[in-house]
Amino acid sequence: MEYELIIVTGASSGLGEGFAEALAGRGRCLVLVARRRERLEALAQRMRVLHPGVEFLCIPCDLGQAEQRDALLERLRSLPPGRTLLLNNAGLGDYGELVTAQRKKIRQLMEVNMLAVAELTHGLLPRLLRDGGDIINISSLAADVFLPDFALYAASKSFVASFSEALRLEVASRGVRVLAVCPGPVHTEFGSVAQRVGFDRGDMPLKSCFYTPADEVVRSSLRALETGRARVYPSAKVWMSGCLLRLLPLWLLRRVLACRPRRVQAQTGGTP
Ligand SMILES: NC(=O)c1ccc[n+]([C@@H]2O[C@H](COP(=O)([O-])OP(=O)(O)OC[C@H]3O[C@@H](n4cnc5c(N)ncnc54)[C@H](OP(=O)(O)O)[C@@H]3O)[C@@H](O)[C@H]2O)c1
Repeated sequence: MEYELIIVTGASSGLGEGFAEALAGRGRCLVLVARRRERLEALAQRMRVLHPGVEFLCIPCDLGQAEQRDALLERLRSLPPGRTLLLNNAGLGDYGELVTAQRKKIRQLMEVNMLAVAELTHGLLPRLLRDGGDIINISSLAADVFLPDFALYAASKSFVASFSEALRLEVASRGVRVLAVCPGPVHTEFGSVAQRVGFDRGDMPLKSCFYTPADEVVRSSLRALETGRARVYPSAKVWMSGCLLRLLPLWLLRRVLACRPRRVQAQTGGTP
Protein backbone atom coordinates (compact mmCIF):
# COMPACT_ATOMS: atom_id res chain seq x y z
CA MET A 1 0.00 0.00 0.00
CA GLU A 2 1.27 3.42 -0.95
CA TYR A 3 -0.55 5.31 1.82
CA GLU A 4 -1.75 4.46 5.31
CA LEU A 5 -4.49 7.08 5.02
CA ILE A 6 -6.22 8.70 2.04
CA ILE A 7 -8.69 11.52 2.68
CA VAL A 8 -11.03 12.58 -0.13
CA THR A 9 -13.33 15.55 0.44
CA GLY A 10 -16.39 15.85 -1.77
CA ALA A 11 -16.44 12.09 -2.32
CA SER A 12 -20.24 11.87 -2.65
CA SER A 13 -20.31 12.74 -6.37
CA GLY A 14 -18.43 13.80 -9.49
CA LEU A 15 -14.65 14.03 -9.44
CA GLY A 16 -14.37 13.14 -5.75
CA GLU A 17 -16.21 9.87 -6.28
CA GLY A 18 -13.95 9.12 -9.27
CA PHE A 19 -10.81 9.88 -7.25
CA ALA A 20 -12.01 7.70 -4.37
CA GLU A 21 -12.60 4.77 -6.74
CA ALA A 22 -9.20 5.21 -8.40
CA LEU A 23 -7.36 5.56 -5.09
CA ALA A 24 -9.04 2.76 -3.19
CA GLY A 25 -6.34 0.21 -3.98
CA ARG A 26 -3.57 2.52 -2.87
CA GLY A 27 -4.37 3.03 0.80
CA ARG A 28 -5.01 0.99 3.93
CA CYS A 29 -7.75 3.36 5.08
CA LEU A 30 -9.82 5.62 2.83
CA VAL A 31 -11.75 8.46 4.46
CA LEU A 32 -14.73 9.77 2.49
CA VAL A 33 -15.97 13.24 3.43
CA ALA A 34 -19.08 15.15 2.23
CA ARG A 35 -22.49 16.14 3.58
CA ARG A 36 -24.58 13.37 1.97
CA ARG A 37 -23.99 10.40 4.24
CA GLU A 38 -26.09 7.95 2.19
CA ARG A 39 -24.04 8.66 -0.95
CA LEU A 40 -20.79 8.08 0.96
CA GLU A 41 -22.12 4.84 2.48
CA ALA A 42 -23.23 3.57 -0.94
CA LEU A 43 -19.80 4.31 -2.42
CA ALA A 44 -18.03 2.65 0.54
CA GLN A 45 -20.30 -0.36 0.22
CA ARG A 46 -19.43 -0.77 -3.48
CA MET A 47 -15.72 -0.40 -2.83
CA ARG A 48 -15.60 -2.79 0.13
CA VAL A 49 -16.57 -5.55 -2.30
CA LEU A 50 -13.77 -4.63 -4.72
CA HIS A 51 -11.12 -3.95 -2.04
CA PRO A 52 -11.78 -6.23 0.94
CA GLY A 53 -8.45 -5.39 2.60
CA VAL A 54 -9.15 -1.65 2.73
CA GLU A 55 -10.96 0.18 5.53
CA PHE A 56 -13.53 2.72 4.29
CA LEU A 57 -14.52 5.41 6.75
CA CYS A 58 -17.44 7.71 5.91
CA ILE A 59 -17.40 11.03 7.76
CA PRO A 60 -20.40 13.24 6.99
CA CYS A 61 -19.31 16.86 7.37
CA ASP A 62 -20.45 20.25 6.16
CA LEU A 63 -17.12 21.87 5.30
CA GLY A 64 -18.89 25.22 5.26
CA GLN A 65 -19.32 25.03 9.06
CA ALA A 66 -16.35 25.89 11.29
CA GLU A 67 -17.40 23.55 14.14
CA GLN A 68 -17.83 20.64 11.73
CA ARG A 69 -14.41 21.30 10.20
CA ASP A 70 -12.92 21.29 13.72
CA ALA A 71 -14.65 17.99 14.55
CA LEU A 72 -13.45 16.46 11.27
CA LEU A 73 -9.86 17.48 11.96
CA GLU A 74 -10.03 16.07 15.47
CA ARG A 75 -11.29 12.74 14.09
CA LEU A 76 -8.62 12.66 11.37
CA ARG A 77 -5.87 13.43 13.89
CA SER A 78 -6.98 10.45 15.98
CA LEU A 79 -6.35 7.97 13.13
CA PRO A 80 -3.22 5.76 13.14
CA PRO A 81 -0.03 7.45 11.89
CA GLY A 82 1.42 6.76 8.45
CA ARG A 83 1.92 8.13 4.99
CA THR A 84 -1.09 10.24 4.02
CA LEU A 85 -2.74 11.61 0.87
CA LEU A 86 -5.02 14.62 1.37
CA LEU A 87 -7.28 15.38 -1.58
CA ASN A 88 -9.04 18.71 -1.18
CA ASN A 89 -11.72 18.27 -3.82
CA ALA A 90 -15.01 19.52 -2.34
CA GLY A 91 -16.16 22.73 -3.96
CA LEU A 92 -19.09 24.61 -5.43
CA GLY A 93 -19.84 27.47 -7.81
CA ASP A 94 -22.51 30.15 -8.09
CA TYR A 95 -23.44 31.42 -11.55
CA GLY A 96 -24.69 35.01 -11.70
CA GLU A 97 -23.87 38.59 -10.90
CA LEU A 98 -22.55 39.32 -7.44
CA VAL A 99 -25.29 41.84 -6.75
CA THR A 100 -27.98 39.15 -6.88
CA ALA A 101 -26.02 36.48 -5.00
CA GLN A 102 -27.44 34.95 -1.81
CA ARG A 103 -25.25 35.83 1.13
CA LYS A 104 -25.58 32.31 2.50
CA LYS A 105 -24.21 30.84 -0.73
CA ILE A 106 -21.39 33.40 -0.85
CA ARG A 107 -20.32 32.32 2.62
CA GLN A 108 -20.66 28.63 1.78
CA LEU A 109 -18.57 29.01 -1.39
CA MET A 110 -15.78 30.92 0.35
CA GLU A 111 -15.68 28.52 3.31
CA VAL A 112 -15.75 25.29 1.31
CA ASN A 113 -13.55 26.38 -1.61
CA MET A 114 -10.93 28.24 0.42
CA LEU A 115 -11.15 28.09 4.22
CA ALA A 116 -11.71 24.32 4.35
CA VAL A 117 -8.75 23.77 2.01
CA ALA A 118 -6.50 25.99 4.13
CA GLU A 119 -7.65 24.57 7.49
CA LEU A 120 -7.54 20.89 6.51
CA THR A 121 -4.13 21.34 4.95
CA HIS A 122 -2.84 23.28 7.96
CA GLY A 123 -4.32 20.78 10.40
CA LEU A 124 -2.85 17.72 8.67
CA LEU A 125 0.47 19.17 7.56
CA PRO A 126 2.33 18.21 10.79
CA ARG A 127 1.25 14.59 10.18
CA LEU A 128 2.34 14.74 6.52
CA LEU A 129 5.70 16.26 7.41
CA ARG A 130 6.24 13.64 10.12
CA ASP A 131 5.09 10.53 8.22
CA GLY A 132 5.37 11.63 4.58
CA GLY A 133 2.54 12.20 2.16
CA ASP A 134 1.02 14.19 -0.65
CA ILE A 135 -1.61 16.87 -1.17
CA ILE A 136 -3.84 17.28 -4.22
CA ASN A 137 -5.90 20.46 -4.38
CA ILE A 138 -8.63 20.73 -7.00
CA SER A 139 -8.48 24.19 -8.52
CA SER A 140 -9.83 24.98 -12.01
CA LEU A 141 -8.96 26.44 -15.38
CA ALA A 142 -10.95 29.39 -13.97
CA ALA A 143 -7.95 30.06 -11.69
CA ASP A 144 -6.19 31.68 -14.65
CA VAL A 145 -8.87 34.21 -15.47
CA PHE A 146 -11.34 36.58 -13.84
CA LEU A 147 -14.88 35.61 -14.78
CA PRO A 148 -17.79 38.02 -14.65
CA ASP A 149 -21.00 36.20 -13.54
CA PHE A 150 -18.72 33.65 -11.85
CA ALA A 151 -16.50 36.12 -10.02
CA LEU A 152 -16.27 34.53 -6.57
CA TYR A 153 -15.76 31.04 -7.92
CA ALA A 154 -12.91 32.03 -10.26
CA ALA A 155 -11.28 34.05 -7.47
CA SER A 156 -11.61 31.13 -5.04
CA LYS A 157 -9.89 28.81 -7.52
CA SER A 158 -7.08 31.35 -8.05
CA PHE A 159 -6.62 31.15 -4.29
CA VAL A 160 -6.36 27.35 -4.44
CA ALA A 161 -3.79 27.40 -7.27
CA SER A 162 -1.67 30.13 -5.68
CA PHE A 163 -1.87 28.53 -2.22
CA SER A 164 -0.84 25.14 -3.65
CA GLU A 165 2.14 26.53 -5.56
CA ALA A 166 3.44 28.44 -2.53
CA LEU A 167 2.93 25.52 -0.14
CA ARG A 168 4.68 23.18 -2.57
CA LEU A 169 7.81 25.33 -2.32
CA GLU A 170 7.55 25.49 1.48
CA VAL A 171 7.49 21.69 1.87
CA ALA A 172 9.37 20.51 -1.25
CA SER A 173 12.52 19.48 0.58
CA ARG A 174 10.57 17.67 3.34
CA GLY A 175 9.06 14.78 1.41
CA VAL A 176 5.59 16.23 0.76
CA ARG A 177 4.39 16.80 -2.80
CA VAL A 178 1.66 19.33 -3.56
CA LEU A 179 -0.29 19.29 -6.82
CA ALA A 180 -2.89 21.77 -8.09
CA VAL A 181 -5.37 20.30 -10.57
CA CYS A 182 -6.94 22.78 -13.01
CA PRO A 183 -9.72 21.06 -14.96
CA GLY A 184 -11.84 22.74 -17.60
CA PRO A 185 -15.54 21.85 -17.68
CA VAL A 186 -16.45 18.32 -16.57
CA HIS A 187 -19.94 16.74 -16.57
CA THR A 188 -20.73 16.35 -12.85
CA GLU A 189 -23.34 17.81 -10.48
CA PHE A 190 -21.28 21.00 -10.37
CA GLY A 191 -23.40 22.86 -12.98
CA SER A 192 -26.73 22.16 -11.29
CA VAL A 193 -25.38 23.17 -7.86
CA ALA A 194 -23.97 26.41 -9.31
CA GLN A 195 -27.14 27.27 -11.23
CA ARG A 196 -29.43 29.90 -9.68
CA VAL A 197 -33.20 29.73 -10.08
CA GLY A 198 -34.31 31.98 -12.95
CA PHE A 199 -30.78 32.68 -14.14
CA ASP A 200 -29.62 31.76 -17.63
CA ARG A 201 -25.92 32.45 -17.69
CA GLY A 202 -25.46 31.62 -21.37
CA ASP A 203 -22.34 29.72 -22.31
CA MET A 204 -18.86 30.72 -23.31
CA PRO A 205 -18.41 30.08 -27.05
CA LEU A 206 -17.17 26.54 -27.85
CA LYS A 207 -17.48 25.53 -24.18
CA SER A 208 -18.98 22.18 -25.16
CA CYS A 209 -15.72 21.27 -26.98
CA PHE A 210 -13.78 21.65 -23.75
CA TYR A 211 -15.56 19.06 -21.62
CA THR A 212 -13.15 16.48 -20.23
CA PRO A 213 -14.42 13.10 -19.00
CA ALA A 214 -14.15 12.82 -15.20
CA ASP A 215 -12.04 9.64 -15.42
CA GLU A 216 -9.52 11.45 -17.63
CA VAL A 217 -9.22 14.23 -15.02
CA VAL A 218 -8.60 11.60 -12.34
CA ARG A 219 -6.05 9.66 -14.40
CA SER A 220 -4.10 12.78 -15.48
CA SER A 221 -4.05 14.10 -11.92
CA LEU A 222 -2.67 10.89 -10.41
CA ARG A 223 -0.07 10.65 -13.17
CA ALA A 224 0.93 14.28 -12.54
CA LEU A 225 1.30 13.59 -8.81
CA GLU A 226 3.52 10.59 -9.50
CA THR A 227 5.77 12.62 -11.80
CA GLY A 228 6.07 15.39 -9.22
CA ARG A 229 4.34 18.11 -11.22
CA ALA A 230 3.16 21.31 -9.55
CA ARG A 231 0.06 21.82 -11.67
CA VAL A 232 -1.93 19.85 -14.20
CA TYR A 233 -4.49 20.93 -16.80
CA PRO A 234 -6.20 17.66 -17.73
CA SER A 235 -6.61 17.29 -21.54
CA ALA A 236 -4.65 19.00 -24.29
CA LYS A 237 -7.37 21.56 -25.05
CA VAL A 238 -7.61 22.66 -21.44
CA TRP A 239 -3.82 22.87 -21.18
CA MET A 240 -3.66 25.05 -24.31
CA SER A 241 -6.45 27.27 -23.01
CA GLY A 242 -4.53 27.76 -19.77
CA CYS A 243 -1.38 28.70 -21.71
CA LEU A 244 -3.32 31.14 -23.87
CA LEU A 245 -5.06 32.76 -20.90
CA ARG A 246 -1.73 33.32 -19.15
CA LEU A 247 -0.19 34.82 -22.30
CA LEU A 248 -2.98 37.27 -23.09
CA PRO A 249 -2.30 40.83 -21.96
CA LEU A 250 -4.79 42.00 -19.35
CA TRP A 251 -6.25 44.72 -21.56
CA LEU A 252 -7.10 42.14 -24.23
CA LEU A 253 -8.53 39.68 -21.72
CA ARG A 254 -10.79 42.46 -20.36
CA ARG A 255 -12.05 43.17 -23.88
CA VAL A 256 -12.67 39.52 -24.64
CA LEU A 257 -14.57 39.00 -21.39
CA ALA A 258 -16.58 42.18 -21.90
CA CYS A 259 -17.91 40.59 -25.13
CA ARG A 260 -18.98 37.34 -23.46
CA PRO A 261 -22.48 36.11 -24.34
CA ARG A 262 -25.07 37.52 -21.93
CA ARG A 263 -28.46 35.91 -21.74
CA VAL A 264 -28.83 36.86 -18.11
CA GLN A 265 -32.21 38.07 -16.89
CA ALA A 266 -31.75 41.37 -15.10
CA GLN A 267 -32.26 40.58 -11.43
CA THR A 268 -32.22 42.93 -8.54
CA GLY A 269 -31.49 42.45 -4.89
CA GLY A 270 -29.65 39.43 -3.48
CA THR A 271 -29.99 38.47 0.14
CA PRO A 272 -28.55 41.22 2.31
N1 LIG B 1 -17.24 20.05 -12.92
C1 LIG B 1 -16.51 21.01 -13.40
O1 LIG B 1 -16.77 21.54 -14.51
C2 LIG B 1 -15.29 21.48 -12.64
C3 LIG B 1 -14.29 22.19 -13.36
C4 LIG B 1 -13.17 22.62 -12.67
C5 LIG B 1 -13.03 22.37 -11.31
N2 LIG B 1 -14.02 21.70 -10.64
C6 LIG B 1 -13.84 21.47 -9.21
O2 LIG B 1 -13.87 20.08 -8.97
C7 LIG B 1 -14.26 19.84 -7.61
C8 LIG B 1 -15.31 18.74 -7.58
O3 LIG B 1 -16.48 19.22 -8.21
P1 LIG B 1 -17.39 18.28 -9.12
O4 LIG B 1 -17.30 18.79 -10.50
O5 LIG B 1 -17.13 16.87 -8.87
O6 LIG B 1 -18.85 18.73 -8.60
P2 LIG B 1 -19.95 17.93 -7.76
O7 LIG B 1 -20.35 16.70 -8.49
O8 LIG B 1 -21.01 18.96 -7.46
O9 LIG B 1 -19.20 17.50 -6.42
C9 LIG B 1 -18.92 18.42 -5.41
C10 LIG B 1 -18.57 17.67 -4.14
O10 LIG B 1 -18.29 18.63 -3.12
C11 LIG B 1 -19.05 18.31 -1.98
N3 LIG B 1 -19.41 19.50 -1.22
C12 LIG B 1 -20.03 20.61 -1.67
N4 LIG B 1 -20.31 21.44 -0.65
C13 LIG B 1 -19.86 20.81 0.48
C14 LIG B 1 -19.87 21.13 1.85
N5 LIG B 1 -20.44 22.27 2.31
N6 LIG B 1 -19.33 20.28 2.72
C15 LIG B 1 -18.79 19.11 2.31
N7 LIG B 1 -18.74 18.74 1.02
C16 LIG B 1 -19.29 19.59 0.12
C17 LIG B 1 -20.30 17.62 -2.51
O11 LIG B 1 -20.84 16.75 -1.51
P3 LIG B 1 -22.20 17.00 -0.68
O12 LIG B 1 -23.13 17.79 -1.54
O13 LIG B 1 -22.69 15.61 -0.39
O14 LIG B 1 -21.77 17.71 0.55
C18 LIG B 1 -19.74 16.82 -3.66
O15 LIG B 1 -19.26 15.59 -3.20
C19 LIG B 1 -14.74 21.18 -7.08
O16 LIG B 1 -13.73 21.75 -6.28
C20 LIG B 1 -14.95 22.02 -8.33
O17 LIG B 1 -14.78 23.39 -8.07
C21 LIG B 1 -15.13 21.24 -11.28
